[in-house]
Amino acid sequence: MSRLISFALEDFFDEYEHRSDLINLASSDSQPWERREFDARLGDWTTALPGTLAYPDLRAGLIPALEKAFRTPAGFSALPTAGAQESIAIVMHWLAAAKKVESIGLPVPAYGTFLGLANMLNLGIRSYAYTASLNWRPDISELRHLAKECDALVVINPHNPTGHKIATDELLHLAQILLTRGKTIVVDEVFVVAEESESLAYAAENVIVIGSLSKMYGLPGLRLGWILAATQDFQEFRTVQQYLTLSPSVFTVTIGTLVLERLFDEFTRVNLVKQNRTFLQAWAATHADIVSISPPMAGTTVILEIRNDRREQELFDAFLATGVLLVPGRSFGLPDRPPRFRLGYGMKAEVLDQGLRRIITAIK
Ligand SMILES: Cc1ncc(COP(=O)(O)O)c(C=O)c1O
Repeated sequence: MSRLISFALEDFFDEYEHRSDLINLASSDSQPWERREFDARLGDWTTALPGTLAYPDLRAGLIPALEKAFRTPAGFSALPTAGAQESIAIVMHWLAAAKKVESIGLPVPAYGTFLGLANMLNLGIRSYAYTASLNWRPDISELRHLAKECDALVVINPHNPTGHKIATDELLHLAQILLTRGKTIVVDEVFVVAEESESLAYAAENVIVIGSLSKMYGLPGLRLGWILAATQDFQEFRTVQQYLTLSPSVFTVTIGTLVLERLFDEFTRVNLVKQNRTFLQAWAATHADIVSISPPMAGTTVILEIRNDRREQELFDAFLATGVLLVPGRSFGLPDRPPRFRLGYGMKAEVLDQGLRRIITAIK
């Protein structure tokens, strides 16, 4: 049997994401900054581009800017990547090739890269669930159990699609269990933003944190991510990266450096996301007879459950017919019934409002 499993979510996006006739409540990105907003923040950034399109020198600007933004202490380092997607690829290959990991704990449902790569790399997968019966939380005792048994544990925190956030104390406890066994915890923090979620970066030498500008900073197209981890592993991360992408592009390096220097003041989308979250919760409460959502603790996404006996596909078609795009639960491996969708709420407030109205129209 092939170890290459299809990436259902990305196949879905390939098919629907570029349909401009639909209100997109499928994306987990917060609203991308428009070019004029971007220029207003950076001024004429073209003057910062180097005179030639030679390989960029990351040590000259981007790495120091990253380490300054994320206050990297002695003994730890920051590696810029071509988005969190590359960060995940580096870490998974490193776990398989350098750490010779045989078993890895992975969340389900979840963004599919960890699972897809674990399959490709033939790692023994032990999954833990975010379940509806626990109000879309994972069972912490199950996670502790995996921390005692697996060679590596992956946590996506805040979690996509549920929006659940595991408490920092609990994560530290898991990291500690793994540390005593000489094992690794990988924390995907693409949905972490100051003011609403804490980072586990630098908590211990076995903690690997992954982040990016795509979700909470409105810059998905820049394709800039990072790994924050103990310096001792960096040469090996870099070796894997040399086999994958070599480095981010000269444009990403130039613009990314300027953005990181102003990241928390000028590029955070936290206020928009928080306002939209409050709006979404009020909407769900108003329509509690026909919809329910996973509790949105952080991040930009929830699982939306429709309380009726129509099938997921039928509802998906009804949403399309009313002009709103949601990710069907099957793209996250969820069963057909009850009908569930991933709903992203990081877009412009008026777009979210319109999309939510269309959902109600489609259901009724
Ligand atoms: C949990 C998670 N990790 C990583 C990524 C990839 O992010 P990036 O755009 O930085 O590659 C995504 C994208 O949706 C995600 O949801």
